[in-house]
Parts: sequence; structure tokens; C-alpha cells
Amino acid sequence: MTAVAVVRSIALVGLEPHPVRVECTRASGLPGLRLVGLPDTAVREAGDRVRTAIQRAGLTWPQDRLVVNLAPADLPKVGTGFDLPLAVGLLAATGQVPVGSLAGLFAVGELGLDGRARPATGSLPAAAGARAHGARRLLVPSAAASEAALIDGLEVVPVDDLAETVAVLRGERPARRAAPAGVAPAGTGPDLAEVRGQPVARRAVELAAAGGHHLLLSGPPGCGKTMLAHRMRGLLPPLAVDEALEVAAIHSLAGERAPDQPLDLEPPLREPHHTASAAALVGGGSGIPRPGELSLAHRGILLLDELLETPRWVLDALRQPLERGSVVITRARARVVYPARVLLVAATNPCPCGHLGDPLRACACRPDRVERYRSRLSGPLLDRLDLQVDLRPVDRRHLLGPPDGEGTATVAARVLAARQLAAERWGRPALVATTPTARIRPTVRPAALRALADGLERLGRSARAFDRCLRVARTAADLAGSELVTTEHVEEALAYRLPSLEPAR
Ligand SMILES: Nc1ncnc2c1ncn2[C@@H]1O[C@H](COP(=O)(O)OP(=O)(O)O)[C@@H](O)[C@H]1O
Ligand SMILES: [Mg+2]
Repeated sequence: MTAVAVVRSIALVGLEPHPVRVECTRASGLPGLRLVGLPDTAVREAGDRVRTAIQRAGLTWPQDRLVVNLAPADLPKVGTGFDLPLAVGLLAATGQVPVGSLAGLFAVGELGLDGRARPATGSLPAAAGARAHGARRLLVPSAAASEAALIDGLEVVPVDDLAETVAVLRGERPARRAAPAGVAPAGTGPDLAEVRGQPVARRAVELAAAGGHHLLLSGPPGCGKTMLAHRMRGLLPPLAVDEALEVAAIHSLAGERAPDQPLDLEPPLREPHHTASAAALVGGGSGIPRPGELSLAHRGILLLDELLETPRWVLDALRQPLERGSVVITRARARVVYPARVLLVAATNPCPCGHLGDPLRACACRPDRVERYRSRLSGPLLDRLDLQVDLRPVDRRHLLGPPDGEGTATVAARVLAARQLAAERWGRPALVATTPTARIRPTVRPAALRALADGLERLGRSARAFDRCLRVARTAADLAGSELVTTEHVEEALAYRLPSLEPAR
């Protein structure tokens, strides 16, 4: 009986990394490979892939009984990332690589039948997890190396195939160095100056970016709703590196990120189509549930264009995660939590034909159709859209004339200053939209509080609207550089509550 060779690896349950020990040994008995430790189908198939890969690489597949234990046994181990540690462990157990080379070594990666190493999904969170669980060296397929090398304090060893892996572990060939993917240069998205007119909507966009408030843009087709929404991304401050890594980890897990892509400090903008399913929006799928658009938009913008074309039950599925800032998906084998702190930007026509309230064209919809259309936007979801704007078409003269509003750089500077003011006040960076109102109230003049209560009563709004309106007023004060929230700020916040979109009660 030989010694047990142990290679460490990482199993991802959602974004959460769990250390796995791949323990390999020779045993007496009939030749063959026995895998224990609750492997799913993909891991069982790994046995076949690894055997073929070892043989194709000109190495020896011994005529022995080989036993592999993936520990801990009670952890769901999904995916193809265990091929590489499995192959290395078997080679060590059969004396083809020195067992001493496995100390402090983690490995994550898939093997093709030809022995080539390919990245498994989630290389970035796996690398972060390896580091957190004490890895010194991480063996990864070359294609995943620059992504893994974004993690500080980890020696990433890229390998093209099993032959290179063996040569490196035997010390016959020096390990290559992985160059980290680097940081993407700041993007130059579309500029806010291209939007003509629409001063109220432009201001709402600025407030939303500064405070992180959800926004609803309603208006006839072609008035600039989508245009404005696309320009919001440029108003948000860039992400810190650790925030950008968190975002990239979600995208890596969802297979939405090329591994050699540089780290993007720009907040994400996700724009799911209105036919997207609830699972595509919120997350789901068989096995370990995958992150949905809501999590892919984490720390950025989720744009729901044509909001009222989206089925109501899909919208309802968004409500709780929006409130909580995370998505919880429970399955028989795993409970997965994905972060989902997004700025929701919703755009909609006011009615099926789009021209309700349009001074230029009469609306062609029957009243009962309008009502059914609007009832899709349930009261509770509407309440969560802190800034609601009714846009009108822009006059042709404005469209043809020179730019009549500020550009992205000017507004983004004000947004940043407002966020800094809020961060100084509360001693840490925090979005006003997620700050408890108990912390905001002491900064509000008593007369302003009364004005808010009176105003909401006039609009027939719920208590939830009170807190949300108060936060918008706080952001208006921050943008004005004012420590105190005054009646003027409250009046502005109240103006962004549309009575017209409220479904009939
Ligand atoms: N306020 C505006 N300023 C400048 N161009 C506009 C404006 N509104 C609409 N447009 C023009 O009309 C096109 C359609 O606008 P879009 O934002 O898609 O409208 P909506 O989403 O409201 O239907 C834009 O690409 C742009 O060329
Ligand atoms: Mg549009």
C-alpha cells in the first residue's frame, strides 16, 4: 500500500468557496478507479477524462486499483474543475510526480481528452477562495491564469496541458509566471450632453446616480428614455478594486467574462430583454443555481426597458431581492446567496400605444386596456421606484439645435462630491438609498419633515413612500452641498412621485 497523495482544490457553492481535498491512493483489488465523496455526474465523468488525458500525455495509467476520495463528502461538488487536481493526485499516488511538490498546492481546471487544460467556470472566485484557504501556489489552465493572477498574494502557475504540469512539478521545467489581467482603461460611453431638453429627467438621473435611488422613466416612444438610461453608467463613480473583483467574480461564475479580460472598474450595466424569464433575471437553473441579471448588475445598473411589457409575476420576483440587496436561492443540495445591490432603472410607455398624455398625438388605447397595462406595475413595486418622471417628446427645434445641457463629466463630478459628503457624514461610504432613515432624520429640518408628511398625504402614499422620499430629499441636499435637509429639498423629492401611474385602487 502506498501513501496517500493529497491535492487541494476549491468547490464553489455559488460564490462561496469551500476547500476540497482530493485524496488519491493505490489499493489492492481489481484494476480500476473508484471515486468516493458524493461526486455529481460531471465529477464521475472526470475519471474517464483523466484516464484518457494521462494516457495521451505519455504517462502511465497503472494496472492497479486506484481510490480517490473527495473530502468533505457532504459538500456538493459540481463542475469540471476537479480534473486537474485529480490527475495530479493520481500521478503523485503512482510515483510519477513527487508527493513533496504538492505541499501548499491548489489546482483548479478541466482536462480535455487530449490532456489539454481548459478553464472551468468561476476561475476568479475559485482563485480568491484558494488564497483565502491558505494556498501558496495555484495550478490553473493557462487561459484562466491572468484572471486568477488578479488575486494578490497567490503564485499562479499556468499550465497548457498535463505534460507541462508534470514537467513543472518534477522541477524539469521552470513554472511560467502569470501576468495579471490588469485594469481596463476608463470607458468612454455615450455622453449626457447628447440628450436635448428633458431637464427634469436629467435631474432625476443625477439624483439617482448620487443616492442610488431606483428610477422610473415614463413617456411616449422616442422621447429619450433609453438614451438617458444608457448615459447613467458614466455618472456612477468607478468601483474600488475589491468591488470590481467581486463583480468580476460573479461574471466569471456566470461564464459572462473572458478570463483574459482586464478588470473593469466601471460599474456594470445590464439590460435584460423584457421576455427574460424570472430565473434569468433573479438567478436559478439546475444544479448549483447560477447568478441572474440582478446579480450580474451588482454595484451597477439594472435597466428594465419596456417595463410594462414584462409579465407581472416576473416583476414580483424582483421585489424581495431588490429590498434585501441579495438573491437567496434554496435547493435541496445547496442554499446559495448572490449579492444584488443594483440601481434599478425602469423605462416604460405610459400605455400600450405609448401616447397617453402626449400633446402631439392622441392616445389610441381603450381605457380598460390602459388600466390592465398599468396594473402590471404593482403598487409595492411602484413604491420602490423612488424617482418617477413623466417625459414629454422633445421639440424638434431642440433636437436640431446645439447641446442645451451639461455633459457627463460635469454631472459625474457633482455625483462624486455628493457621495463624498454622505460618506464623511456617516463615516463610511454608504448610498443614501440604503441608509436607515433613523440616521437621516436628525439631518432634516422639522418644517421639512412636516412638509413631507403633508405632501405624501396629498398624494395618498404609504408610509414606505415616506422613508423613500426622505432619502431622495437627503440626496438633493447632498448634491447642493447642504448638511441640512430643508423644505426645498423635500418639495423636489415629492415632485418625483407620479400620481398618474398609480394603478386604480
Ligand atoms: N431628448 C432627446 N435628445 C436627443 N435625441 C433624442 C431625444 N429623445 C430621442 N432622441 C432621439 O431619438 C432616438 C430614440 O430615443 P430613445 O431614447 O430610444 O427613446 P425612447 O426610449 O424614449 O423610446 C435616440 O436615439 C435619439 O436619436
Ligand atoms: Mg426605449
